[in-house]
Amino acid sequence: MSQETNQVVGQETSKINTRELRDAFGAFMTGVTIVTTASDDGKPLGFTANSFSSVSLDPALLLVSIAKTSSNYPTFSTAGHFAINILAEGQKDLSNTFARPSDDRFANVSWQLSANRNPLINDVSAWFDCTTHAVIDAGDHALIIGKVEAFHSAGFAGLGYYRGGYFTPARVSAEVIAGPKVIVSAIIAREDKVLLVKTAGNKWGLPSKEIGKEGADKALAELFTQYQPDASASFIYSVYNNTETHYQYISFLCSAPDELAATGEFVSLDDIEAHAFHDGALASMLQRYRKESELKSYGLYFGDHSNGIVRPLHS
Ligand SMILES: Cc1cc2nc3c(=O)[nH]c(=O)nc-3n(C[C@H](O)[C@H](O)[C@H](O)COP(=O)(O)O)c2cc1C
Repeated sequence: MSQETNQVVGQETSKINTRELRDAFGAFMTGVTIVTTASDDGKPLGFTANSFSSVSLDPALLLVSIAKTSSNYPTFSTAGHFAINILAEGQKDLSNTFARPSDDRFANVSWQLSANRNPLINDVSAWFDCTTHAVIDAGDHALIIGKVEAFHSAGFAGLGYYRGGYFTPARVSAEVIAGPKVIVSAIIAREDKVLLVKTAGNKWGLPSKEIGKEGADKALAELFTQYQPDASASFIYSVYNNTETHYQYISFLCSAPDELAATGEFVSLDDIEAHAFHDGALASMLQRYRKESELKSYGLYFGDHSNGIVRPLHS
């Protein structure tokens, strides 16, 4: 596009309409965080923010932008410490609570105080406990840069935010799938291992279940209860039809904060070849997963049990 065309269709900065600018910024998909701190007298404080960004790995730095009009601004810009809580898919209500006026946003919230005196909210996707590295004036906002002193990533799928609305990709993909004749399986991955279970005939397989009328969401929840209670689904990894049995197989890539394995065994991806699988398609899917997890670039497989295509998830 030429520069001339840009000037015709774009907005000139001197005449920017704030409402339209906000909408245009909203085209950038983000997660949702709750930024927390505590006042000198120990009162927990927090607000919802999607302006979070990672900044530096060494030293470990992150930032969040806070409106100067916020009632929280004086405390957050001077406290010297704060935490970022990255919300999980099921925590939309928390986002709303921490964006609305209230005397005590923490009233019905489970949380714990961190080593740096910041409230850490339970069951979030990840948290970062920070000391304040710098506060930088930036127009009607200030950038608060934090030095990460401690962090934890639970691996729960994160809550998304896009054009003023929330979205929950993992949940939606599970909700739209309903039987009949669909078998859902969970690739519960943890570092370089995956949870395998013994199936009939002493062969290995993934935690799997035929889904009922309640849909894939319920079936996945039951699989997690049975095999790895704190696992959660991230995205669909493979969809294929078995042209002989006429079943559709849908595999979800899932993560787990620990290796609990109530049933089954976490097996290193390097040892896949040493295991006999009840289904040849499964062995090739796990080999693909091993390769992709090294590159951190995943594709989605569509096809039948012997032939299919892998579509990259990033294009
Ligand atoms: C999804 C979402 C993202 C938000 N992101 C920010 C942000 O990055 N920075 C900010 O200052 N406020 C942000 N807000 C607004 C604040 O959460 C909220 O307006 C503010 O906490 C108002 O209350 P206060 O005056 O008590 O701080 C966001 C709100 C929502 C719903």
